[in-house]
Amino acid sequence: MKFNLTVLPGDGVGPEVTAEAIKVLEAVGRKYGHDFELDYGLVGGIAIDQEGTALSAATLKQCQQGNAVLLGAVGGPKWDDPQAKVRPEDGLLALRKGLGLFANLRPVKVFPQLADQTNLKPEVVRGVDFIFVRELTGGLYFGRPKRRWATSRGRRAVDSMSYSEQEIERIVRVGFELARLRQKKLVSVDKANVLESSRLWRQVAGEVARDYPDVSLEHMLVDACAMRLIQNPRYLDVLVTENTFGDILTDEASMLAGSMGMLPSASLAGVPREGTAIFGLYEPIHGSAPRRAGQDISNPIATILSAAMLLRYSLGLAKEAAAVEAAVDGVLEAGYRTYDIMAESMRKVGTKQMGDLVAARV
Ligand code: IPM
Ligand code: MG
Repeated sequence: MKFNLTVLPGDGVGPEVTAEAIKVLEAVGRKYGHDFELDYGLVGGIAIDQEGTALSAATLKQCQQGNAVLLGAVGGPKWDDPQAKVRPEDGLLALRKGLGLFANLRPVKVFPQLADQTNLKPEVVRGVDFIFVRELTGGLYFGRPKRRWATSRGRRAVDSMSYSEQEIERIVRVGFELARLRQKKLVSVDKANVLESSRLWRQVAGEVARDYPDVSLEHMLVDACAMRLIQNPRYLDVLVTENTFGDILTDEASMLAGSMGMLPSASLAGVPREGTAIFGLYEPIHGSAPRRAGQDISNPIATILSAAMLLRYSLGLAKEAAAVEAAVDGVLEAGYRTYDIMAESMRKVGTKQMGDLVAARV
């Protein structure tokens, strides 16, 4: 089959890690007879430098015309000035909003080969395998009013955590659908003891639950969830939560896997159901790591696993996705490690070599 992908390498290590994911996709194409047509575009700091905006209207349009988007990372010290009118991160937010990518899937799976390498005890992290569903186009990030002004007693600013029942319903459904394919256990994370938007969230989640009698729903307060993630992460399977809570909890959760360089993500414009293909954007959860850029040392696995999610959710190629995941597992099993996951008696490799190794095993 023929597919159109938009590739937005972005800043820092973004171009290096996306190149390796493309290498792996091309190996998939050769093996399974698919043709991936690639269109490259600019996003983030490089887009600010070359096009004067973190995401041009033309790039957004190009993204809309393809089957999916593969993104590297955005940002860097060059564009960090807090007074700046445009920031690289604006490009990411504009992509999410402009493409309607409301469902952010962030799986956290601890590879058994790396269980000894986290800051937590191996017996706590071994076997951890859960997925966060983070709402991505609402809440504090986009809610109005959002502004800063001067009062007679000094400056003041406001952000709004605002959700409509429709926004809550569609994201909670993503949680239930994924739970159905896994252990049929959904945890909905909120702060219903304090926040009105969370009380609506909890109520709507309870209403949607009636459509999924086969899935158990548990409500968990966000502070308790932060604790549970460290105390007993194996308890968790599918979690659904609003934008800001999800941003914070998924960074916390990423530490269970030993390195951010291992964790992929998908941002989807619809509810994933078996046998359907949904438009989405795929990116590693790590940032642009400017100090590591251009050295061929970064771990491309997070981006390669993001490409596997792209195959599964946006192209409907589950078998091919599983082949990529198995290839990563095989390379780790064979003892190859990038610097961030390096351990004694393992073989240290760079970005390109890691990409070659995975591609060869597809
Ligand atoms: C993330 C990042 C972004 C977010 C930033 C870069 C805007 O932290 O994808 O988690 O807060 O959503
Ligand atoms: Mg974040």
